[in-house]
Amino acid sequence: MAIHVTDERIFILETKNTHYVLGVDKSERNRHLYWGPKCHISDYSAQVWDGNDRDDQLGTAKQEYAVFGGIMHKEYDLKVKFSDACREIDLKFDSADVGENTLTLKFSDKVYPLSIALKYQISDVDDIITRWAEVTNTGSDKIEVERIYSAELTLPSEKPYYVKNTNGSWGGEYEETETLVKGGNLVFDNKSGTSGQCMSPYFIAHQGADENVGDVYFASLAYGGNFKVNCFRDSHYTTRVLLGVSDHDFKWFLRAGETFVTPKVFCGYTYGFGEMSRQMHRFTLRELLPKQFADKPLPVLYNSWEATGFGVNVEQQKALAARAAEVGVELFVMDDGWFGNRHSERAGLGDWYVNSEKFPNGIDELIECVNGYGMDFGLWFEPEMVNPDSDLFREHPDWAYHYDTRTSHEQRCQLVLNLTIPEVAEYVFNSVDKMLENHNIKYVKWDYNRSISEMGAQNLECPQEAWYRHAQAYYAIADRLKAKHPDVAFESCSSGGGRSDHGALSHFDQVWTSDNTDAVDRMMMQKWFTYLRPAKVMRAWVTDTNYYNKPMPLDFKFNIAMQGSLGLGGNLSHYSQEDLDICKRNIAFYKEIRNIIQFGDLYRTLNPDDDEMLLNTYVTSDKKEAISFLATAGTRFMKRAVPIRFEGLDDNTVYEFEFEGMKYQKSGLYLKNVGIPAVVYKMGYNKIIRFKAI
Ligand code: DGJ
Repeated sequence: MAIHVTDERIFILETKNTHYVLGVDKSERNRHLYWGPKCHISDYSAQVWDGNDRDDQLGTAKQEYAVFGGIMHKEYDLKVKFSDACREIDLKFDSADVGENTLTLKFSDKVYPLSIALKYQISDVDDIITRWAEVTNTGSDKIEVERIYSAELTLPSEKPYYVKNTNGSWGGEYEETETLVKGGNLVFDNKSGTSGQCMSPYFIAHQGADENVGDVYFASLAYGGNFKVNCFRDSHYTTRVLLGVSDHDFKWFLRAGETFVTPKVFCGYTYGFGEMSRQMHRFTLRELLPKQFADKPLPVLYNSWEATGFGVNVEQQKALAARAAEVGVELFVMDDGWFGNRHSERAGLGDWYVNSEKFPNGIDELIECVNGYGMDFGLWFEPEMVNPDSDLFREHPDWAYHYDTRTSHEQRCQLVLNLTIPEVAEYVFNSVDKMLENHNIKYVKWDYNRSISEMGAQNLECPQEAWYRHAQAYYAIADRLKAKHPDVAFESCSSGGGRSDHGALSHFDQVWTSDNTDAVDRMMMQKWFTYLRPAKVMRAWVTDTNYYNKPMPLDFKFNIAMQGSLGLGGNLSHYSQEDLDICKRNIAFYKEIRNIIQFGDLYRTLNPDDDEMLLNTYVTSDKKEAISFLATAGTRFMKRAVPIRFEGLDDNTVYEFEFEGMKYQKSGLYLKNVGIPAVVYKMGYNKIIRFKAI
């Protein structure tokens, strides 16, 4: 890991396996040279830019951060309007600051008081590079920023790339999408105010890669507000991807002396999707997640939502807690319905006091009961929202985003609080803080169940700042609460898995994956979830069979949910003793192996869409232990003696394990190449194989 500089103003960011090469050309412009597997450092030269650094060539030049100005009609990263109405930028190079792992390239406008710092940070152990930009107004007049992205990435091949993202909706998150970008733009432009289910703030580009083979380029934006990911292939067949805050209904007043620091982008090149995931998992655990819980295993939780909905009350929650404790749950979370006049989605949001009909002796009666069973207690909030039918709204109708002349459209009967008003942000902070101060709460599920409309924010001089300011305000409140209550873990949730991006993962300890807890559906959802996010943050509950959860055996449901951070969400009060015993056995087993799942390296070998069955293996970093999950909802034919080959084990280590009643001792090499036979049959076939090095 190092940053090399040549005397031609070329900078080579060297990671474990890659080079990312950029520089400054004779015309003082920032330029991109190369990104991919390592080459010989001495070969990189500014020759590639000679003759291609003319002003009229700007449109095809490979740049690190293109600004709007001159003969340049491709996508750009920054556009501003100066106080005299000039809307073009023309940069000159100022300086480079090269640290051990960091590089800053500074540019400024040739005429106007605007400076730009391009920031790069390389990872100590893997190939992830962090990029962002800082734009400063060094003058005295306001500058209007119309677009400000975080980074532009140029892919090396002139052949077209397939670009992966996700689509989805409530109950159907993380459905993989893939588009071949031969020409034009492929744009993921989120306008709903929060990252949402129907696209992700990232891209994964390849030319025919799979889990183990092929060049993979990817980047993820640490921002869950309106974002834009724009991939395009130009007339010279160069593919670029720009990522950042969306310029949809966006404007920012950059006042004298102010700096706009863009959200960060984490990008990498790997060989195969599997390596991409493992690198991003390690990076997220090590660098992004809030420190308090990043290296601690997450507890097995119970959540009341699927069992009791809004109709919570003290006796029924105590009964559930008794059952949860009996099977080994460590954290009991009461979901929606405990506060204000909250009997349905129609009322109560904003009134964060305990409902005295449901909890006549206060909430401590339940918390003490839960603690008495040796479990921690967690509580649900939706802090950014208000129901018009609430005391808060009746008192402060102006606290929700609105226009006086327009209908405020409700979604799930609720409106969004204007967090850009400091008083409102303070109220939101205090609502959660007061509960954490006064009660023994160790876990907050922070929900968010609508998109933003009528984003009036007339309190701001520049109301279009509200989208970005809202996202920053919600992060700031969560950070403040976490700082004040360091022993409280926070889960990010948004109508299921709507806010599970790397922005959320920079402030929250885990995310709610989806309200779809059907184990069969989860098999593929979890695959796509884990492309860039670690299994540790992926909350997964075992729930009841009902009109949307398919009737799979309880062990099968555990097999799937154990592949993330295990939780339970069924109505335990209705469980038979036999079911409770199955829960107990599986939870005890999960506690033994959860460190391998939550901190290990994931190898996705088979998946139900392509292979009819799923085979995932989690391996400790020293490769001494591993755990494989094999499952299928059902196969079309009985499969006899299917060779199951395992990935991720050490070739030269012999592992002992049991499978289908047989005891084995085999090397990692044998298990990778020859494998062991399995007879796969029956609906809900599932096996867990635990490998130990001998
Ligand atoms: C949406 C979440 O995704 C659910 O898990 C649950 O918390 C409900 N909100 C509660 O209203």
